[in-house]
Amino acid sequence: MTAVRLADYRPAPYLLGRTDLTVRLWADHAEVEAELAFSPNPAAAEQGPAPLKLAGIDLTLEALAIDGRPLDPAHYTLERDGLILHQPPQSPFVLHSRVRLHPHSNTTLEGLYVSGGLFTTQCEAEGFRRITFHPDRPDLLSRFRVRIEAEQASCPVLLCNGNCLETGVLERGRHYAIWDDPFPKPSYLFALVAGVLEEAREPFETASGRPVQLRLHVEPGDLPFTTHAMTSLKRAMRWDEERYGLEYDLDEYNIVAVRHFNMGAMENKSLNIFNSKLVLADSETATDGELERIESVIAHEYFHNWTGNRITCRDWFQLSLKEGLTVFRDQSFTADLHGASLNRIENVGLLRNTQFREDAGPTAHPVQPDAYEVIDNFYTTTIYEKGSEVIRMLHTLLGEKTFMNGMALYVSRHDGSAATCDDFVQAMDDAAREAWSGRPAAFDFGQFRRWYHQAGTPVLQIQRHWNGERGELTLHIQQHTPATPCQPHKQPLVIPLAMGLVGQGGEALPLHAAQARQLPPQWGHHSQLVVIDQAETELRFTGLPQQHHPPALSLLRQFSAPVKLELGRPVAELVHLLAHDSDPVARWDAGQLLLRRGILARSQGEPDQQLEEELADAFARILADPSLSQASRAMLLSLPGQAELEDAASNGDLSPDPPALFAAAQALRRHLGEVLEEPLLQLLEACEPQWTAIWPQGQGDRRLTGLIWSWRAAAADAGVIDQARQAVDGPSMTLARLGLSALQCHDLPQRQAASDAFFARWQHKPVILDTWFALEAAAPFGDGLARVQRLLEHPRYDPNAPNSVRAVLGGLAGNAPVFHAPGGAGYRFMAEQIAALDQRNPITASRLAKVLSRWRSYGSERSDQMRAALEHLDSCKLSTNTREMVELSLSQ
Ligand code: BES
Ligand code: ZN
Repeated sequence: MTAVRLADYRPAPYLLGRTDLTVRLWADHAEVEAELAFSPNPAAAEQGPAPLKLAGIDLTLEALAIDGRPLDPAHYTLERDGLILHQPPQSPFVLHSRVRLHPHSNTTLEGLYVSGGLFTTQCEAEGFRRITFHPDRPDLLSRFRVRIEAEQASCPVLLCNGNCLETGVLERGRHYAIWDDPFPKPSYLFALVAGVLEEAREPFETASGRPVQLRLHVEPGDLPFTTHAMTSLKRAMRWDEERYGLEYDLDEYNIVAVRHFNMGAMENKSLNIFNSKLVLADSETATDGELERIESVIAHEYFHNWTGNRITCRDWFQLSLKEGLTVFRDQSFTADLHGASLNRIENVGLLRNTQFREDAGPTAHPVQPDAYEVIDNFYTTTIYEKGSEVIRMLHTLLGEKTFMNGMALYVSRHDGSAATCDDFVQAMDDAAREAWSGRPAAFDFGQFRRWYHQAGTPVLQIQRHWNGERGELTLHIQQHTPATPCQPHKQPLVIPLAMGLVGQGGEALPLHAAQARQLPPQWGHHSQLVVIDQAETELRFTGLPQQHHPPALSLLRQFSAPVKLELGRPVAELVHLLAHDSDPVARWDAGQLLLRRGILARSQGEPDQQLEEELADAFARILADPSLSQASRAMLLSLPGQAELEDAASNGDLSPDPPALFAAAQALRRHLGEVLEEPLLQLLEACEPQWTAIWPQGQGDRRLTGLIWSWRAAAADAGVIDQARQAVDGPSMTLARLGLSALQCHDLPQRQAASDAFFARWQHKPVILDTWFALEAAAPFGDGLARVQRLLEHPRYDPNAPNSVRAVLGGLAGNAPVFHAPGGAGYRFMAEQIAALDQRNPITASRLAKVLSRWRSYGSERSDQMRAALEHLDSCKLSTNTREMVELSLSQ
């Protein structure tokens, strides 16, 4: 396979002014005529007359002409993945082509395909080349005009980007619509939808008075489930106006929900296409978490209109320019709507359990990679979540005002063009320079840019020295980033470290140090920001209380940088922080550290009784603390994820034992459920009146209910087990799902009854049934693989719906006792399923293949078995997507 390299980027030799398409949809195929108006690119002139390369996959070429004259076959070469015109005119010309394609049998879900009778498209990153021959590169922006023709009965609704100019009737029961998008755009933002759809419609007026028609298109019968998505869209539009001063720019905004979709959602200009699970929802059919997720994904795709569409990416190495920034924006939106701290804690948990894991394995890569083989494999948590963290660090380092100035500069400089990550940082750099004029720079932007190029999670090793007589604290901080594939040596980064000190009485201590800067109050009381930019740094804080013990050290407040901390803090200090830290994130993190230690000790067969006692006491105080919300209580008591536990267990020569960690977490739940019985049951009663409150009301109470159910079910509380079982028949999907999860680990008749009842109630709603598939696949007992096999053969299982595939196979991958069971049968099973899936849908298959990539991090037996499964996969006929993942995993 050949890699694409950032260093090889060259401007396109021919510019593209217009892309005019006529798309004719038929019962068994489609025909696409394209007129592409090219002209030689002056910016590429010095390279001399170049051939014109057009990408095209699975297209049958039926006609090809330049300026109306059919092209002599000697003047072009047709290849497997495209078309080369050897000597195109050196003045403006129009290339005309006609191709035939087969959307009905397209199971890749890229390009034009049919989902449940609906014609739909997915073009990012390189799907447009499955629709017509085209340069299909993101730096070529052209104006699109599209005529769609289809049968009126089966495709009454015809949608495309931009404004609908004209509709009309054709012969033989067919009709057409012509759409024009006034904003030049790259081909990956093209979209087209045709089929039977019902629409929910609402007007919106932008801040400057532009009326916009908002429309949500769903399958007939699904209209009642569109209210939440519509409300979310309006909130997002308003928020972007208020916070960023960015308004919508067209007369319509359409969202279509489709069942078969590889990703969550796609930001095509004025025609977003969504996985139906991210549109259809109300509180009876979706959980609190799903409602919040829908709100944030609707916002994310909407925010792309500026950060992604109007300013797009020069090439796919710049993917984080739009994705990292837009994730940062959608996280800020959710934080503004639902509270910053809880949202931050959730995102930190996600980052640690996915991105940190990626950074520690064979697929580790920088936020801005410099080479790839298949771009689809690069839509990773590093590009998205770490990319967002990098933006967040800029925000922290610059402060809100300067950051927003930088944003405004970025937008004004690059609107209407294709930009790079460097352009973004440059705008921030220029805004900072202005803000700092006359003062020394707070940090070096050149050095900050390393965050884009260096993979791996940096580690801060901290040693402290406490001089009690003088009230003086010295921190010695070393930063280093572990080696990652192709990057053995790393350089120091600019790391914003937010910190504070908590005194013996729980009070925040003011602290002073030459290098520190006071942070605004939302960072916790007396929080200071220190910029760590050397391999070794020494910080001295003076004027602290003169006492024997050092004040408790609260570090990485708000999780101010995506790094790991290494410092030995005794249990008592962590317990103190868990009780008193004024920063909710650091407070939660202190509890997480204690929980991690407790679970690790149990997984090694040596429960740490003293730690568990102190933890239980601390939790009892949290449960009784009247100043805390139910949501905060639930958050502070939640156990760390399996990925984090595995990471914590793989220190030094030790390799993690996933089933043992899973069992240890469950045993700790049972233990805490037993010793905290009284306060837990009291709180359960206190939560109950809020169970049926409509989201977002009551969500904290429901979350805490779920936690109590799972702890008490682990402790075999018959009353709770019954309550959890009955929730499945109740009015709240959140409680139903929490009930199912609480029963999930117990091979009890009540679990079976709950699962059967859930199936019976929701079997005709595929989106909801997927959660049942996931739970069944993740049940950690019995013959797990046989159960998964039965699920794959279940009459309601749709092998062409990525949601179902991910539910079952993703459920299995997350089922530690079954997937990692001795013998390696779980790995082999997975490899075979991935190979079969790869024949239908390479994108989904290669994403799933990552579950086998970390074979080196397990003990020798597991590691051999997992590698053998990968080698089996390697011996199969594979797509380039999956081949890249497998080879990457085996080679590193
Ligand atoms: N542009 C992406 C969707 C996409 C990614 C399409 C890769 C094709 C290939 C979109 O904006 C996106 O990021 N979607 C996310 C959800 C988002 C909230 C992070 C997704 O689909 O998971
Ligand atoms: Zn996105």
